[in-house]
Amino acid sequence: MKTALITGVMGQVGSHMADFLLERDYKVVGLKRRSASGSNWRLKNALLNKNFSLVEGELTDFTSVAGIVNFVKPDEIYNFAAQSHVGTSFEQTSHTFDVNTIGVLNILNSIKFIGLNNKTRIYQSSTSEMFGSSWDWVKNHGEKYLNFPLFEGQKDYGPINGHKGQNENTKFDPQSPYAVSKLAAHNLVKIYREAYGIWAVGGIMFNTEGPRRHINFVTRKITNYFTKLKSKRDDKLKLGNLDAFRDWSYAKEAVEAIWLMTNNTSPKEYVIGTGETHSVKEFLNEVYNYYGFDTYSPLEHFVEIDDNFKRPLEVPYLCADPTAIQRDLGWVAKTKFKDLVRIMCEEENGKE
Ligand code: GDD
Repeated sequence: MKTALITGVMGQVGSHMADFLLERDYKVVGLKRRSASGSNWRLKNALLNKNFSLVEGELTDFTSVAGIVNFVKPDEIYNFAAQSHVGTSFEQTSHTFDVNTIGVLNILNSIKFIGLNNKTRIYQSSTSEMFGSSWDWVKNHGEKYLNFPLFEGQKDYGPINGHKGQNENTKFDPQSPYAVSKLAAHNLVKIYREAYGIWAVGGIMFNTEGPRRHINFVTRKITNYFTKLKSKRDDKLKLGNLDAFRDWSYAKEAVEAIWLMTNNTSPKEYVIGTGETHSVKEFLNEVYNYYGFDTYSPLEHFVEIDDNFKRPLEVPYLCADPTAIQRDLGWVAKTKFKDLVRIMCEEENGKE
């Protein structure tokens, strides 16, 4: 029986990873921050499983990480612990680097000093935010897709105007402290792999969504608002930039790609995404249409643009080119945009 240590296990991707590994007869140890105030609602399946346990620890404290790694001696470490909010990273810069970069160093150094190089594999959760403005689609294709009226969704469900999407060979051009902290960690993973022979790999994940998403992220903020609206809600949904394009995949499916990467014959980086891109505005429209509110009130009635939710720098366009992971590992995203919206709306009730 393999043992996996999952950091960030209370979060969306970490909790899905726990469920996925438990179904495959792993023993799973979840790292929980002492200060973590959130409830365990995402772990309701895992907590019923005798092969699951939680251990208290702090990723930014080397002694804590090394102590846990030494105690668990995991076969696989999945690092999802992060200050993962891009907007917040502009306000909490040092904290972002402490968790997202130093935290990764603490894991890598634990493996190195304890001498688990030949036993433990590490999966680092890297991000498409590292691409940042690597492809300036406004410059390349004009403003055709910007500022269309709220009701008019983008009709092309693929990369815009022939752009192939970002892949393993696309250059990085981070646009936030978050993205820089993650890029540093991504590079450290490669350096420790080459320098010390540690089996470590960074998966470049595009946006992952689902009913377990925290409401600080735009997709759940939207589905949560409209679900509560059903029981009469008079405040407006305040949003920032609606013109950003993202490749939204279903977190529950993405964990399989993560597992395949970690169990690959050799550590190799892949992008993980659907190959479709949609704007925040489209997401909003799709949720609105799901509920069929148009019969009594237009969407504009509910939404207000609030500059407080805009970022000092934005990443305008992200779309994965997942050719390599499909070719090498056979992974392909099955749930695409419309189904993802439906799943999120259906399961919204009863959440935070
Ligand atoms: N959060 C948020 N709240 N975003 C908003 C809002 C709002 O009220 N209004 C507009 N947006 C826009 C953001 O400016 C961004 O362009 C887009 O919606 C998506 O924002 P988020 O849902 O916060 O996600 P993200 O794309 O910044 O980052 C997520 O995906 C990355 C992978 O691409 C996070 O999960 C990161 O941790 C992850 O690395």
